[in-house]
Amino acid sequence: MNKILTALLALGFTSLTFAQTLYLTADAMVDVAAGRLVQNPVLVIQNDRIERVGTAGEIGIPQGANHLDLSGHTLVPGLIDTHTHLNADATVHGYGRFAVSTPRAAITGVLNAQVTLMAGVTTVRNVGAAGFVDTALRDAINEGDVIGPRMFVSGPSIGVTGGHCDNNLLPYEWGVTSQGVADGPWQMRQKVRENLKYGVDMIKFCATGGVLSKGTEVGVQQFTFEEMEALVDEAHRLGLLVAAHAHGTDGINDAIRAGVDTIEHASFIDDAGIRMALSQGTYLSMDIYVTEYILGEGEAAGMLQESLDKELLVGGVQRENFTKAVRQGVNMVMGTDAGVYPHGDNLKQLARMVQFGMSPMQALQAASINGATMLHQQENIGSLQAGRYADIIAVAGNPLEDISILEQVAFVMKGGVVHKTP
Ligand code: ARG
Repeated sequence: MNKILTALLALGFTSLTFAQTLYLTADAMVDVAAGRLVQNPVLVIQNDRIERVGTAGEIGIPQGANHLDLSGHTLVPGLIDTHTHLNADATVHGYGRFAVSTPRAAITGVLNAQVTLMAGVTTVRNVGAAGFVDTALRDAINEGDVIGPRMFVSGPSIGVTGGHCDNNLLPYEWGVTSQGVADGPWQMRQKVRENLKYGVDMIKFCATGGVLSKGTEVGVQQFTFEEMEALVDEAHRLGLLVAAHAHGTDGINDAIRAGVDTIEHASFIDDAGIRMALSQGTYLSMDIYVTEYILGEGEAAGMLQESLDKELLVGGVQRENFTKAVRQGVNMVMGTDAGVYPHGDNLKQLARMVQFGMSPMQALQAASINGATMLHQQENIGSLQAGRYADIIAVAGNPLEDISILEQVAFVMKGGVVHKTP
């Protein structure tokens, strides 16, 4: 069976669907819901969903059944990256991005969606895209035109005039203002409504300055509490989750107090912020791998000197605070900021999450069941349990012994369709 699949994929079939019931077996399976490794798993897959999960002792494989055996491999739920920019090209930063049109970014997204899926990321939350290229990409994937992960998208990020989510690269006479710029509580509400009108699933806004924007201080709060409160109130009433980009302490604290669902980056989170996140159930989406790319390759990719300087202020502290937040038991998801660094390298972050305080199981849970729960999608994705979509990846060996093997995902299935085989 494996050989046939591999041959078909090699012949140019990009994906393979099983019409009837499929029995999937492997050496082991990471059960993220129970937090344990299961030996000799058998998964019964019917169309796009997992129908039954058990062990070889519990589920027999009928004669002549459709059986795919991934011996030597461990099954893992398809992973969830809660902070991507699929339409962004990681080799183009700073002023180079002015040469990228919206249609060009849309096409870049098609390539990156495929690369991301093949790396084992079967769901992304895409936080910030001009021109709604993200809603278009999501729809094209859902309609089967192109291959990619499930996408939950924000459209243009909402931000104050001159803030991290504005574009401050050109002088006044060019009149460049980003699409999500809004000031004052009623403009917040208007932007949320406008983004929903054009099809977003969630809202992203910038609570503080950032690393890659011109003329913003990472530590400085940009939205007032009043503005954040209005934005969150509007979004939640309309059924949209809210992600806040926030590096600085005050902006993080006000965003949590305003009721956001996730804090992106969370670099300078303090004890008060951690306590509040714990009591409110706020998730932290801390991109602790990307610092290595920014400091290593950022200059060649066109990042401003100012950004490289700011990264030196942020990266180390962010890792220390990641450790602190993990120790105190704050809800953690895996957000990478892929797009700032190359798509497909998303899962390099797992090894950093382990290096800075998580067990391999915790890192995999952050990147699966926690992401699913945060997205209110735990009945559909994030674990290998009956009823969930058959979003399944496999690695050669045991990822609980060596998490870095997730950097070489051997098998990818999304919604019962095989996209990659060993
Ligand atoms: N998009 C983020 C920003 O510009 C990237 C921050 C990356 N640095 C980090 N240490 N996480 O602020």
